[in-house]
Amino acid sequence: MKKIALLGTLLFAFISCQNIQSQTSNTKNQNIEQKIDSLLSIMTIEEKVGQMNQYNGFWNVTGPAPEGGNAEKKYEDLRKGYVGSMLNVRGVENVRALQKIIVEESRLGIPLIIGSDVIHGYKTLAPIPLAESASWDLEAIKKSASVAAAEASAVGVNWTFAPMVDISRDARWGRVMEGAGEDPFLGSKIAVARVTGFQGEDLSAVNTIAACAKHFAAYGFTEAGKEYNTVDIGTSTLYNYVLPPFKAAKDAGVKTFMNSFNDLNGVPATGDKFLQRDILKGKWNFDGFVVSDWASIREMVDWGHAKDLKDAAKKAAIAGSDLDMESNAYINHLVDLVKSGEVEESLIDDAARRILRVKFELGLFDDPYKYCDEEREKTVIGSTKHLDAVLDMAKKSIVLLKNDNNLLPLKKEGQKIALIGALANDKNSPLGSWRIGSDDNTAVSVLEGMQAYKGNKLTYAKGADLFVGNAGFVHEVIINETDKSDFAEAIKVAKQSDVVVMVLGEHGFQSGEARSRTNLQLPGVQQELLEAVYKVNKNIVLVLNNGRPLAVSWADEHIPAIVEAWQLGTQTGNAVAQVLYGDYNPSGKLPMTFPRHVGQVPIYYNYKNTGRPTDKDNNVFWSHYIDSEKTPLYPFGYGLSYSTFEYSNLNLNGTSFKTGSEVNVSVNVTNTSNIDGKEVVQLYIRDLVGSVTRPVRELKGFELVELKAGETKTINFALNNETLGFYNNQGDYIVEPGDFKVFVGGSSTATLEAGFELK
Ligand code: NOJ
Repeated sequence: MKKIALLGTLLFAFISCQNIQSQTSNTKNQNIEQKIDSLLSIMTIEEKVGQMNQYNGFWNVTGPAPEGGNAEKKYEDLRKGYVGSMLNVRGVENVRALQKIIVEESRLGIPLIIGSDVIHGYKTLAPIPLAESASWDLEAIKKSASVAAAEASAVGVNWTFAPMVDISRDARWGRVMEGAGEDPFLGSKIAVARVTGFQGEDLSAVNTIAACAKHFAAYGFTEAGKEYNTVDIGTSTLYNYVLPPFKAAKDAGVKTFMNSFNDLNGVPATGDKFLQRDILKGKWNFDGFVVSDWASIREMVDWGHAKDLKDAAKKAAIAGSDLDMESNAYINHLVDLVKSGEVEESLIDDAARRILRVKFELGLFDDPYKYCDEEREKTVIGSTKHLDAVLDMAKKSIVLLKNDNNLLPLKKEGQKIALIGALANDKNSPLGSWRIGSDDNTAVSVLEGMQAYKGNKLTYAKGADLFVGNAGFVHEVIINETDKSDFAEAIKVAKQSDVVVMVLGEHGFQSGEARSRTNLQLPGVQQELLEAVYKVNKNIVLVLNNGRPLAVSWADEHIPAIVEAWQLGTQTGNAVAQVLYGDYNPSGKLPMTFPRHVGQVPIYYNYKNTGRPTDKDNNVFWSHYIDSEKTPLYPFGYGLSYSTFEYSNLNLNGTSFKTGSEVNVSVNVTNTSNIDGKEVVQLYIRDLVGSVTRPVRELKGFELVELKAGETKTINFALNNETLGFYNNQGDYIVEPGDFKVFVGGSSTATLEAGFELK
């Protein structure tokens, strides 16, 4: 604290500001800039470079350790003030200890910013982000991020490496679990909800944290869905699909960006000046900082883009990567590079300024220990309020994929129910990937959730193990591919039951970073188990657990009811049980297309028509597969409810509009069932002719509507320049005159249609 006081005195000697609290936010910003000017003017080049250095903590690691990154050296650098940030440090005691070293022992005592992967909660876990995105409920998603921020900030963390806003069309890529799916419009709205949820209205409040839009850019287009792979995409895809959620996050005030492991059209993103300086800091005027991904500066050597670590440091700094996460490239080489004139000092000043700015905004200079309150740590983490919030989010994330003959909801009494599948009795897998502060085996299992309903006779049988071996945080999951010895018991139980609930799918560690798959079917012996049980009892409700779209064509053909339950976090079992028993009416809609077969991937709803979209002449020469339908198994935006909805009266306020004017669209939606429910009303457009070919559909509006049984509501949308245009191949946003179609309904295959002309 002594150091901070000293630093404070120094700063105040340089500027004449008296009472920051009473200033307007503009003045506040000016004051921050003046303070940074003052601070930079007294910092040595080593100290400025120190701000650009981030070390991993001493506890857990989320990537391979750098050479020579030993603890002693880290402590030494902390004492010198040569560390700007640490990651993977958790717990008030640990954060306080590190903060104390830098604040009290280094010359200037500049506090650390403490980063962590708080992706879907800290200890109390919400559903994985892809699942949350299926809610299309922006308020709920924002709330979920604010719960995560409240818990993270209570353990000393003040910066999360989230949200991941990468658009992806490839379910093989394990990290789709961490994003918002395939669509840039939905993805942008969710990006904003998450950023504002984490950062709140006031970043300096004790329960809000800085967010990070990642991975800049195009990581979701990693070739063949293979992790850490190359990306080769054109300008149109970059501007129309990859960049919009990042831009939306920036406009929502996100404080930091993280670059990415991939190269983009031949240049590793970390060393890409076009992305980081020209677009992000130039065109978009972003004033926060860019952190590299874990060792991505060093990895430019392996990419063959830098000849050694020094060259990598030079290229990354020039390209605009401000903070080096665990490459040890800046701390070892940047001072020399500046002294030799290879990197301009102004670039170092700019990077340090950006990092200091976020620290000021967080209020770390006012009190470096503001996130280190033991009392808050005890009361906030795992509070009932948070458990309720993640339960609410979990229910909203569930998607009902199929419900023949209204098999669901289950009757609450007098039924014999068989519950089958290793995942039904799993308290670990439902937590999903990324669970930085949560203990293993802390989810409510589906078995526990269903046991709370006492009116039926519930019998559980595992059927088969899903994984064998250790499934700890960084371990690979070993799947049971052979052992069917428990099938017999499951078959026996199924035979004696009225309804069978089978919980099958992926283990929580089969998706996430470095978990790419080539097969999108049920892993291990689960498909065989499903078919074996089906032979003796066809009354099956299949509850899917997965971190990515799965190709479950057989199940869709045979199983009467299918519920997409992803990995729903701490409250998984309660959420699933409440939906199965009808205490919660599902309303989720898929944020990513489900293929029939892995061979269709990448598959997405906003595809191009091609020159041969249909079989006109009954011959083979059209755009299709000869061994599978080309349509998806379940399209983007799809999801059922226990209610049924009808759409009618699609109206536009004209048929011809001048470019620049607003097109108003209205539609009636009726709940035609006797159950109150919610429906995500979706609006898609098709621009029929474009100078760059246009997708067959593009989502341009949606609203989550509550409808009482029998109720009708009129829903209004507005289309304008912002939604009717696109980026051309020069990266310019243009709105072209011509004919448009409008589709409104409950999925991307909505059939209610109208049209207009833009002049
Ligand atoms: C690598 C991941 O790509 C990134 O998303 C994460 O934030 C860092 N590791 C830190 O754990």
